[in-house]
Amino acid sequence: MTTDHIVAADREQAVTEEVLASFDATPDPRLREVMHSLVRHLHAFARDVRLSEREWETAIEFLTRAGHITDEHRQEFILLSDVLGLSMLTVAINEPSAPGATESTVFGPFFVDTAPEVPLGGDIARGASGIRCYVSGQVRSVTGEPIDGARIEVWEADQDGFYDVQYPDGRSAGRGWLRSGENGEYRFWSVLPAPYPIPHDGPVGDLLAATARGPMRPAHLHFMVTASGFRTLITHIFVAGDPYLGCDAVFGVKQDLVVEAIHHLDGPAPDGSHPETGWASIAFDLILATHDGR
Ligand code: BEZ
Ligand code: FE
Repeated sequence: MTTDHIVAADREQAVTEEVLASFDATPDPRLREVMHSLVRHLHAFARDVRLSEREWETAIEFLTRAGHITDEHRQEFILLSDVLGLSMLTVAINEPSAPGATESTVFGPFFVDTAPEVPLGGDIARGASGIRCYVSGQVRSVTGEPIDGARIEVWEADQDGFYDVQYPDGRSAGRGWLRSGENGEYRFWSVLPAPYPIPHDGPVGDLLAATARGPMRPAHLHFMVTASGFRTLITHIFVAGDPYLGCDAVFGVKQDLVVEAIHHLDGPAPDGSHPETGWASIAFDLILATHDGR
């Protein structure tokens, strides 16, 4: 290294040290730890890529566009976290260690907390387009006890790959919640999920395009399951055979969450009904861990 390089490296390190010290008096120890680590890694990143001023401006413009496109229906920063794998890394860091518990995956931006309750065996599609799909299974603990009364929230895109909230007409479809029955059993009608692109008409879409990455997610059904004494489970069922299982734009696929959808040409369905056209069925048990990971 030349003397010039040594002087430049010292100058850079001095900036980092000064910024680190500025957070030394943070009263909350966790916030102090997080800010120190953030500064160390952010500065190391800038040094690593030898960040130019033009590139830094481009990044600021990118974040500004992300802010401008974000509103109550669109959250570009979560999308950015998703495509960078930060959402799934956070899921992995916080995953319960209980062997046998259903694995978690990304929450996504399309959950709505005002979805209607449907009875056990009811219809959460409520007009969403697609092949009728009967979903059933059992909610239980990792030690095998059935969990009755668990609240099961379900949401999904229709066969065109759109969630109800993405339509401008204010519809509510493809979502609902139900409670597991006495033996932990659950069942409902939905539509067979379809693959769809994450919103890619904003800066995150531009980033995907610039890096030759696709915006598609494999077909999936979202679940959030809550039961007293258990950790909330946020997960999906993915449909086996989907062409995008190996290249989910948000890295949410886990092998244990990939399930076969069985296609039936005619009825009767398990609930005795006779769907007019072909229908599908999916069986999937939801296994919850307790708060201490058991
Ligand atoms: C979703 O599955 O709904 C989703 C997840 C992450 C980003 C966009 C959509
Ligand atoms: Fe989704």
